Amino acid sequence: MPRYLVTGGAGFVGSHAVLALLDRGHEVVVLDNLSQGHRAAVPAAATLVEADLADAKRVAEVFASWRFDAVLHFAALSLVGASMREPLHYLAENVGHSLRLAEVAIKAGCLRFVLSSTAALFGEPDRVPIDEDCRIAPSNPYGDSKRMVEEGLAWAERIHGLRYAALRYFNAAGSDPAGRAGEDHDPETHLVPLAIDAALGRRPALTVFGDDYATPDGTCIRDYVHVSDLAEAHLAALRRLETHGSCRYNIGSGTGASVKEVIGAVERVGGRQVPHSIGPRRAGDPAVLVAASDRLRAETGWTPKLGALDDIVRTAWAWREAHPKGYGDRG
Ligand code: UFG
Repeated sequence: MPRYLVTGGAGFVGSHAVLALLDRGHEVVVLDNLSQGHRAAVPAAATLVEADLADAKRVAEVFASWRFDAVLHFAALSLVGASMREPLHYLAENVGHSLRLAEVAIKAGCLRFVLSSTAALFGEPDRVPIDEDCRIAPSNPYGDSKRMVEEGLAWAERIHGLRYAALRYFNAAGSDPAGRAGEDHDPETHLVPLAIDAALGRRPALTVFGDDYATPDGTCIRDYVHVSDLAEAHLAALRRLETHGSCRYNIGSGTGASVKEVIGAVERVGGRQVPHSIGPRRAGDPAVLVAASDRLRAETGWTPKLGALDDIVRTAWAWREAHPKGYGDRG
């Protein structure tokens, strides 16, 4: 039975990937320091190793204890705004931890690696939809940290024969359709959960960050991709790596939705108003980010099954309504 190491498997996207792997009958070891992830997000069928990637000795022990077919590396700092305040911290953690992890994996003979990368690689994109050949020009340290990791992995490919998949996520949202996992960040900064919580009366009114962009309704357009579809993309990439070399894929649904359209979807699905007001723009927000995922579709056969905005909002709503305190493990 294939066995996978999933770093950050207690986090939002990681926990959904763990479910997808377990659903296929694969064996999963999760390595997570639980700084952002949740113990309760790790299914009993997976093994949880509570450890920090900074602890190189512990990471090496994990590779000595199990033989892995591949590493899926989700664990990272991932907030654009925070990275603008603490650039060196972001670069040191994300780049240092990722490349050391790859080094230990290679030494242990594990030569397949799937990296959680980001649309933030593209900064203000030179064209939309954004394909893999668009200019890489991150406009914040978070995006740049992922660019550096991708480049490090490319060196490992040339010199050590590592096969890696760099998966550039657009806006992950939604939750497991069977209700086994959901989105629980602290602090929460993402639009879909904030809009749902505002509708449920659990948070103050949502602030829309600007309505004077050059878009049809003036609000920013993003590509919301269902987290379970995103999880499936990891399995597709793993299959691809069995027979092919390294790959880099942009992953989105291929359709853009404005902030106002997301609010409309939440109101439609939830049957409640989303109290909101218009505020100033948020620094660093590009007007439109939409993925061209044609390469992933063509090369792996991946296709989003929950691509409609209402599917994303419906599953996210169901989980948040059922879990008023999220995973309930924070003070
Ligand atoms: N937004 C609001 N009000 C809020 C929160 C968000 O109007 O309270 C807007 C944002 O301005 C943006 C859209 O909703 O236009 C989506 O914002 P999110 O914060 O949910 O997501 P981002 O697009 O900012 O960020 C996501 C990932 C990042 C990744 C980035 C790539 O969370 O990790 O996409 O562009 F880097």
